[in-house]
Amino acid sequence: MSKKYEAFSGSRLQNYSLGEFDDQDYEQWRALIEQRTGLQLADHLRTYLQSGLNRRMQKHKITDYEEYLEFVTDERNGLREWSELVDSLTVQETQFFRHPASYQFLEDYLRNSIEQTELMRSIEIWSVGCSSGEESYSLAMLADKILSEVDCLTSYGVIGTDISTSALAKAKSGIFNARKAELIPEPFLDNIETLDNKIKIKQRIADRVCFARVNILDLDRVPIRDMDVIFCQNLLIYLRKWRRKEVVNRLAERLKVGGVLVLGLGEVTDWTHPKLRQVNCREVLAFERYRT
Ligand SMILES: C[S@@+](CC[C@H](N)C(=O)[O-])C[C@H]1O[C@@H](n2cnc3c(N)ncnc32)[C@H](O)[C@@H]1O
Repeated sequence: MSKKYEAFSGSRLQNYSLGEFDDQDYEQWRALIEQRTGLQLADHLRTYLQSGLNRRMQKHKITDYEEYLEFVTDERNGLREWSELVDSLTVQETQFFRHPASYQFLEDYLRNSIEQTELMRSIEIWSVGCSSGEESYSLAMLADKILSEVDCLTSYGVIGTDISTSALAKAKSGIFNARKAELIPEPFLDNIETLDNKIKIKQRIADRVCFARVNILDLDRVPIRDMDVIFCQNLLIYLRKWRRKEVVNRLAERLKVGGVLVLGLGEVTDWTHPKLRQVNCREVLAFERYRT
């Protein structure tokens, strides 16, 4: 902790004004965020970045951007603050069954794949950049429905990963505002229970879903592999195009033979991978790993 920071902590400093956020501060912060998360902050988001920083700085009674930078990059004490800052800067907007065409595609794919494989296995699904978990639970509800309709011993598991600890805490709770249920298609509604103005994911589904903090820039260190489905939507759009390709190249390596990578429409363009073929469907952006 810097000396300046110690001087500001405690109750002595009640009123203070923040220093100027000049071009140099902006460039420094923008570079740090992109280097650590991949998130590209366009120029029109400068005010957004500044207010995110200001909220955190006010909390710690720090008035100087340089000083706050020192604080969050401090190897011993900065990690927790960094995580809070990332929470406040990431867009966590999400919904259940957000892109219906992708879920329809997945339903057809999973039915087909269950018919073609051995009776006893587990279907492994990864929801990358899962935010507060609506996507991960939607995927679990879908797999659960399909498997309950066929006579087989196949089971399934979903892992949701995100960089945001607060989003993951919400995801783990399995509790959402009741308005969120409006987007859950009727056949899946029996997977939730209503509690006052909240909904809760039923235990049968929640037991199949787990969550973990993963930065997509650190995929090399992540032991998740042999996935049947990798679902990554509305995250790559925040990255530079070359970085999107790097990330999908790494995700592609985590698919098992015959597995699918489902992205958001338009999130990568001009991308090919020697082990994958693009699925021929205009409404979804999906790639299947060759079976041979
Ligand atoms: C807009 S939400 C998308 C949620 C969900 N996939 C959907 O489509 O509804 C984007 C999520 O990506 C996460 N994210 C941003 N940068 C990340 C990174 N470097 N590694 C992992 N997750 C990240 C954010 O925390 C946020 O929860």
